[in-house]
Amino acid sequence: MSSQKSFFDLFIPQERKDIFAPLNDFNEYLKSSIAAKEYAYRRTLQTPTSSKIQVAEFGQMIMMGSNNYLDFANNPQVVAAAKKALEGYGYGSGSVALLGGTFELHRKLETSIANFYQREHAAVFPTGYSANVGTISALVQEGDLILMDMYAHASLVDGATLSGATVKFFQHNDIKHLEKTLTRLRDKFGGVLIVTDGVFSMDGDVCVLPDLLSIKQKYNARLLIDEAHAIGIIGKEGRGTEEYFNRIGEVDIITGTLSKAPAGIGGYVTGSSKMVEYVRHFASSYIFSTSLPPPVVGGLIEVFHILETDLSHKAKLEHNIERFAGKLRSLGFNIGETITAIIPIIIGDEPRTKTMAKEMAEAGIFCSAVVFPAVSKTQSRLRISLMSSHTDKEIDRVLELLEQLGRKHGVI
Ligand SMILES: Cc1ncc(COP(=O)(O)O)c(C=O)c1O
Repeated sequence: MSSQKSFFDLFIPQERKDIFAPLNDFNEYLKSSIAAKEYAYRRTLQTPTSSKIQVAEFGQMIMMGSNNYLDFANNPQVVAAAKKALEGYGYGSGSVALLGGTFELHRKLETSIANFYQREHAAVFPTGYSANVGTISALVQEGDLILMDMYAHASLVDGATLSGATVKFFQHNDIKHLEKTLTRLRDKFGGVLIVTDGVFSMDGDVCVLPDLLSIKQKYNARLLIDEAHAIGIIGKEGRGTEEYFNRIGEVDIITGTLSKAPAGIGGYVTGSSKMVEYVRHFASSYIFSTSLPPPVVGGLIEVFHILETDLSHKAKLEHNIERFAGKLRSLGFNIGETITAIIPIIIGDEPRTKTMAKEMAEAGIFCSAVVFPAVSKTQSRLRISLMSSHTDKEIDRVLELLEQLGRKHGVI
C-alpha cells in the first residue's frame, strides 16, 4: 500500500468549524505512510549517535542524518565533563536564569561563547529555537522592518512574526533583490534588521556576508546571522561565517545553537554587552523558560575548550566533505552550492524522495527525507549530514548505494 496524499495536500487550509477537523485526515495519512514504510521520521536509536548506530526499526545503520558533525555527542572528554558537572551541581537547574537558575557553570559557558566569537558578552537560552525567537522579538517592534533571506530557519521567521514588525523576504542570497526592497521601503520604517542563516540548514551553502555588511552600512540597518550550522565548521579555526570571510567582529547580532556541532542543547546570542543584556531582560523565551541542566552546560564548556584547542575533528570532517561531495558532483547529482557537512541531494518530487529514503534505510543507511514545508515542494531532497567519525569505507558504501539508486530513479 502506498500513501495517497502528499504532505503538501495536508497543508491546504480547509474551511472548518472545529480546530480538530484536520485530525482524522492527518492520522489516516500517517497510518498509511507508516504501513507503506515510507514514514522516515522518529526512528528509534538504541545507541549513542555516531557514525554507526543501532536502530530499533532497522538494526545496525550508518548514520548520515545527525547534526553531531564533530562527533562530540559521545566524545569521552565531553561526557566526562558532563558527568563531573552532574556530580557537582545535580541534574536540573531548578529555575529560569534570571531567578534561581544561573549557576557558575552558566556564566562560564557564556564567557566561553563570547570569547569564541571575540565578543563582549553572550546569553545562553534553552534552545537555538528560543534564542532566535527571543532575540528578534526582544529587539524589533511594530514600525520596524525585518528583511529575511527566504531560506532562513523557521525559528527566525517565528521570531520575526512575534516581533510585530513588517517582514519581507528576499530571494535566497540575492543582494540585488534585498537592495531593491530596501530602496523602496527604508524610509517608511524605523529600525531595520536583516536576518539570515550563516550556513543554510537545508542547503549547506553560506550567506553572502560581505555584501550583507555593505548593505547594512549603506541603509543604516542591523544584521543578525544564525550560526547554527557554521559554528565549529567553517572559518580557519571553525569560528563560523565571519571568520570564513575574514570579517570577525562586524556582525551586530550573532545567534546560534549548541545542539549541532557542540552536540548538546541550548542556544545563544552574542555581541555587545549592551545588546546582550537588553535581550536577556526583554526576551520572553529567556525570561520565562528554565535554564539548561548543569550536566549539559558542563559538557558544553568542554566542547568550547576542544573547539579552541584541537582542530583535528574539523580536519577529519573536511576530508569527509571533500570525498563525499566531490564524488556526488562527479556522478551528476544536484547538491547545490554546499561547502559544509550538510549535503542536500535534490531529487525534486516528494514520492521519489520518500522511495529513495526508504530504500536507503532498508540498505542500512540512515538519512533524512526533507519535503514541504521544510523546503518548497519542487525541492524535495535527501539531506545527508557528514560527521568527523565517518570512515572512508562508510562514505564509500553510501556513495555506492546512492549511485545505484540515483540511476534506478533517474536522478542522475
Ligand atoms: C539554522 C537553525 N537555527 C536554529 C535551529 C534551532 O536550534 P535548536 O535545535 O537548538 O532549537 C536550527 C535547528 O534545529 C537550525 O537549523
